[in-house]
Amino acid sequence: MAARPGRRVAIVAGLRTPFVKSGTVFKDLSALELSKQVVSELVQRAEIPPAAIDQLVFGTVVPSVQLSNIAREVGLASGLPKSLDAYSVTRACATSIQAFTSAADSIALGEADLAIAGGGEALSDVPISYSRPVAQAVVQASKGRSLMEKLQAFHDVSAKDLLPVPPAIAEYSTGLSMGESAEKMAKENGISREAQDAWAHRSHLLAAQAWEAGKFAKEVMRVLTGRNFDVAVGEDNIVRKDSKLESYAKLKPVFDRKYGSITAGNSSPLTDGAAALVICSEERARELGLKPLGYLRAYAYAAVDPAWQLLQAPAFSAPKALKRAGMKLSDIDLVEIHEAFSAQVLSNLQAWASKKFADEHLGGAEPIGEVPEEKLNPRGGSIALGHPFGGTGARLIHQALRELEEKGKNTALVSVCTAGGLGAAVILEAT
Ligand SMILES: CC(C)(COP(=O)(O)OP(=O)(O)OC[C@H]1O[C@@H](n2cnc3c(N)ncnc32)[C@H](O)[C@@H]1OP(=O)(O)O)[C@@H](O)C(=O)NCCC(=O)NCCS
Repeated sequence: MAARPGRRVAIVAGLRTPFVKSGTVFKDLSALELSKQVVSELVQRAEIPPAAIDQLVFGTVVPSVQLSNIAREVGLASGLPKSLDAYSVTRACATSIQAFTSAADSIALGEADLAIAGGGEALSDVPISYSRPVAQAVVQASKGRSLMEKLQAFHDVSAKDLLPVPPAIAEYSTGLSMGESAEKMAKENGISREAQDAWAHRSHLLAAQAWEAGKFAKEVMRVLTGRNFDVAVGEDNIVRKDSKLESYAKLKPVFDRKYGSITAGNSSPLTDGAAALVICSEERARELGLKPLGYLRAYAYAAVDPAWQLLQAPAFSAPKALKRAGMKLSDIDLVEIHEAFSAQVLSNLQAWASKKFADEHLGGAEPIGEVPEEKLNPRGGSIALGHPFGGTGARLIHQALRELEEKGKNTALVSVCTAGGLGAAVILEAT
């Protein structure tokens, strides 16, 4: 029985750039450039006639002030028809999940037949702004009729005001950074440093094994980079091929130096990259001779108070999505969970299995249960693969479908926590 109203939505192709540590090989590229490269290659590889694309839904989390609608610029820069409708979305780390579900809803409703959904991030290229007094003085000066009047506008600006302001990875409402919020979760949920380090080590081991075995060949493209676009990069550069558990214990906590447990080793790193999907109605897939990798069965979003446990909303969104899908966790063959921090992954997994959590927060519903380890992130996760905020959702969906394809399995749950205390869950089925 169909779990969603409307037409069934198929995912027919996906692709991502390598995900690399920010400030390294993609340092000269913007989110637009990375996104453009991934979208144009995806359309070519999927052999989609450009005229058959009805919508381009794309997003980025740390936007450039020059790009108010990055989706439209991606469409134009990729050489797709200028008549292609395009809009941008943002939902922090679930931005490309939002792009996917928004486009999927349009297809389900019959408003579009085929769409591209994705996201990109260049944390090497963040907008640097100035303080309010400088911004006000610049606006005032632009209205000045003489040089004297223009200079006068800066009269009250102090030397301190002149310091540039980089964007903070901090919650606007609480002022706490992601890492500080993850520290709070580790402490409140009793997640030990050892467990966090072991999870991070696992992420690197599995990602390195998957690269070694060639499993990312269908997922990752080569990107042309460098100032003259003369360097080709085809592999992630965060994955530690020689990850050793002992080395994690040596790292110092970053966000609570005295009592903390979150380190550079058990956090996702600041990353550059982009990812995208091609989705369409079942009928359109048939008409164009496209073979679906899988289908969207259900999705759900949830929100929690950011001052409580910022990254714990998946504890609510996953049960909600399973209910909408008419499924139990035991019906799921694969769980792809975004790894913002080991402490968050372990907190989410703990909450899913906890009767106490379900009694206190889910109105006494049965907990969805424990995820068997072999079903979890078998190709590694964001700690090792990296986390370009806008691109992670599309990476997770495509990676989940490729894993199902390889293993001959059918169902996957994709879970993402985000800033703002939001959580996303998507249920996919291969047939
Ligand atoms: C945690 C964080 C501050 C670390 O940044 P960083 O200091 O630039 O991290 P680095 O990669 O340089 O690592 C620091 C050191 O730890 C070492 N290290 C990192 N991971 C390691 C590992 N798995 N094993 C051994 N050593 C490791 C590095 O080699 C480096 O050593 P060095 O100083 O001798 O070169 C940064 O990654 C961060 O802010 N992450 C969180 C991002 C976030 O908030 N995401 C949102 C999630 S929704």
